Amino acid sequence: MKILAIETSCDETALALVEANGGLRLPHFKVLKNFVSSQIAVHRPWGGVVPNLAKREHLKNLPIIFQIIMKPELKNKKTLRIHQPLFLIPKVEALAVTVGPGLEPALWTGINFAKDLKANYFSSAGQKIPLVGVNHLEGHLYSFLLPGAVNEKVYKKFGLKAIFPAIALIISGGHTVLLCLESLAKWKKLGETRDDAAGEAFDKVARMLGLSYPGGPEVEKAAKKGNPKAILFPRPMFYAKNYDFSFSGLKTAVLYFIRDAKQQMHSNAAKYLSRHSHPFVVSNRDADIAASFQSAVIDVLVAKTIRAVREFHAKSILLSGGVAANKKIRTAFRSESRKIGVYFFAPSIVFNTDNAVMIAAAAYINYLRKKNRSLRAQSNLSL
Ligand code: KG4
Ligand code: ZN
Repeated sequence: MKILAIETSCDETALALVEANGGLRLPHFKVLKNFVSSQIAVHRPWGGVVPNLAKREHLKNLPIIFQIIMKPELKNKKTLRIHQPLFLIPKVEALAVTVGPGLEPALWTGINFAKDLKANYFSSAGQKIPLVGVNHLEGHLYSFLLPGAVNEKVYKKFGLKAIFPAIALIISGGHTVLLCLESLAKWKKLGETRDDAAGEAFDKVARMLGLSYPGGPEVEKAAKKGNPKAILFPRPMFYAKNYDFSFSGLKTAVLYFIRDAKQQMHSNAAKYLSRHSHPFVVSNRDADIAASFQSAVIDVLVAKTIRAVREFHAKSILLSGGVAANKKIRTAFRSESRKIGVYFFAPSIVFNTDNAVMIAAAAYINYLRKKNRSLRAQSNLSL
């Protein structure tokens, strides 16, 4: 089944054409076209995503990307036969669009565009195709099924038997959710963040360090030069007996550390400078903050996930969401999974951050399960 998927929940206008096969027993996906137009440059001066700017950009980008995706291709590059059609227009058998969670004005642009395609573009060509509304978080959740995923070979060999029961951790800019999955369709939410999401904490710490938006990759880069043991930041809710998270306190601890360090630096400056030939090297200190913060986040995420694996006798860990693009986080999960003898699955780096391929994957599973979501923007849609 060829699915054209649209994702506009935040600051990426993404469209993809994906071929889905295998049914609910062994779903697998081939990416035919994948296009992500990032609005980072537009939002960067504001230090974060501005909903109305996101909407404006989506409205501008959607028809252009759609044209690129649907561009007719030469059927046979070597022989041109005049008695057959020369060009192939990609065939689409279903449409999919993110309906939430996300920024409401941004979500509506994708939903309205998808409705318009169904009602005008496709039906005027005589094609009656379904339009599937998708929960963005389900897109992240199922992204381990996409090509190039970590341990793809294990999935190909053993199928879903190698996976369930599974513990899934979704870590993105808006969410931090831990789930226990019995199957592709059945799960229980174990916990989630009580305040900031993991990605949000990365973004805010980046801003405190004067790094640009989006902060996650910048903090990761800065952390490479730092010592993760330089500063002992709190590990919020590490010992709490539940599966909830909290990153706001950690973020505040970083803020106070920077403020106190600055004050100390000013009061000691004269003394310090009189004894040293060159001034305080700020970049090293910032790198230590980044590395120590990252290490605190990793400790909490890993500890709670591993505890859940043990409690629910899970066979695998499914890690997804933008923050899962962080190599230190992936490495930590990979090595901890190995230690306790469970499989670790995560999408390839390109499918961690927002994209429409994962929306197509979730649409396929929802379509087969006959799960119909209402086609309206639901900014707080949960799992
Ligand atoms: O999943 P995503 O693309 O969008 C949402 O659904 O929110 O996640 C975006 C978040 C941002 O907060 C971004 O800073 C973070 O993922 N992120 C990272 C990395 N790459 C993206 N955080 C830490 N390390 C990274 N390498
Ligand atoms: Zn996302």
